[in-house]
Amino acid sequence: MSEFQDADSVLEPTLQNVVDQTSLKWIFVGGKGGVGKTTCSCSLAVQLAAVREKVLVISTDPAHNLSDAFRQKFSKTPSLVNGFTNLYAMEVDPNPDLSEVEGLGGMEGEVGFLADISTSIPGIDEAMSFAEVMKQVQSFDYSCIVFDTAPTGHTLRLLQFPSTLEKGLNKLMSLKDSFGGMVSQVSRMVAPGGEDMVDQLMGKVEQLKRVVEEVNAQFRNDELTTFVCVCIPEFLSLYETERLIQELAKFEIDSRNIVINQVIFPEEVGTSRLLAARVRMQQKYLDQFYDLYEDFHIVKLPLLDEEVRGPDAIRNFSVNLLTPYHPQPRPEDGQPLPAAAGSNSLLEELRRTVEEQRKRIAELEAQLAAAKK
Ligand SMILES: Nc1ncnc2c1ncn2[C@@H]1O[C@H](COP(=O)(O)OP(=O)(O)O)[C@@H](O)[C@H]1O
Ligand SMILES: [Mg+2]
Repeated sequence: MSEFQDADSVLEPTLQNVVDQTSLKWIFVGGKGGVGKTTCSCSLAVQLAAVREKVLVISTDPAHNLSDAFRQKFSKTPSLVNGFTNLYAMEVDPNPDLSEVEGLGGMEGEVGFLADISTSIPGIDEAMSFAEVMKQVQSFDYSCIVFDTAPTGHTLRLLQFPSTLEKGLNKLMSLKDSFGGMVSQVSRMVAPGGEDMVDQLMGKVEQLKRVVEEVNAQFRNDELTTFVCVCIPEFLSLYETERLIQELAKFEIDSRNIVINQVIFPEEVGTSRLLAARVRMQQKYLDQFYDLYEDFHIVKLPLLDEEVRGPDAIRNFSVNLLTPYHPQPRPEDGQPLPAAAGSNSLLEELRRTVEEQRKRIAELEAQLAAAKK
């Protein structure tokens, strides 16, 4: 298809495709730290909540910041986001205490057994808690779940959990097969009914394994799962994104959307040389994104002059995911002031002063540059 692709068939530069695909159940949002993953996952969740019945946003980043983004404290159980009737949020601890994993705590022997297993298979404890979260989440019947994932390396580990856990569980099974008789004999000697204990443990393990297998299959199904990559128009981020996209392909996880955050639009540069230079640098990397990812939806999000925090800020920002951002003309760029502002003479006066000062600075900068030559 790409051979015949012309300018008209360039993929829409929005996440409308994600919102429209009602079959999607698992939506991962990931990328390098600090690029705006949390902001984007919350924004996407807000837009999904407008059209889907019940939406959950989960953070698996140890540096939780859903709470910061919505300015509301969340915990490891889902709670309703203020100002919404169908949007829930929860923050999951990726470094769990195994004894807290439902059904595995309680009897000391079991936890000891599991602790032994978990030290012999790296990542198994994390994977166990992930499986437990998935089990919990599946039982709540959300229409879709948005994952605000941890920075890149961590994200990919999370996607390996199903296979890590499966490996661990298989090991556990084979241990049971080879030592099963012995384990039950010892258990019988230690406590009457001990044999049941081993079988119970196996039952729980089997159950978690089934969850993991199911999740594993669902993550590889592009009707159910997609991964939205978030980045910024800079060299390192471009590089990280390419690595991420390759890894996702390796894990057979669908990805077809790239959100480029913190874009400075030329219209908003004003007279700042620094910003103008930044725009040129960003443009270089934006061009590379467009070249490399022709078959992706590339969504540009504007750098704002303040943080995106609180439900209202997120709501406003989220609009840019579905409607490509176009900068408003700035009054100081010679455009007439909006009518509402015009009625406030003090404000107008201040704006005029700012404009005059800007012009003066530009003149002085030009003089300085000339003097340096
Ligand atoms: N486009 C933007 N303009 C201004 N501030 C932003 C923008 N995107 C994110 N931020 C702010 O940058 C900080 C980091 O964003 P966040 O979404 O928490 O990143 P991450 O989850 O990738 O670490 C937050 O304070 C957020 O409000
Ligand atoms: Mg974050």
